[in-house]
Amino acid sequence: MKKKDEKTTIFFCNGKKCSKYNKEPKDYLKSQVIEFGLEDKVCFSKMDCQKMCKKAPVLCIEPKDVWKKEVTVKKAKKIFEKHIL
Ligand code: FES
Repeated sequence: MKKKDEKTTIFFCNGKKCSKYNKEPKDYLKSQVIEFGLEDKVCFSKMDCQKMCKKAPVLCIEPKDVWKKEVTVKKAKKIFEKHIL
């Protein structure tokens, strides 16, 4: 379970394939973090290719260790509601 003041980091795969497709979901999640005033609690980072390129774009949420594949804006919305808020 997430501790109260534990910071969440959303890692986006920055590999060749994922970075081709992750701009929209990334922009969406960043805008939601700002809209909900979560800038102090959520940060964004990059990770190298995770060898799941067929499932691009891939992201990971730490410290929950939640992995999501084929992330669209629609999926990003659900991810935000379930894992970030
Ligand atoms: S480019 Fe993201 S898993 Fe390979």
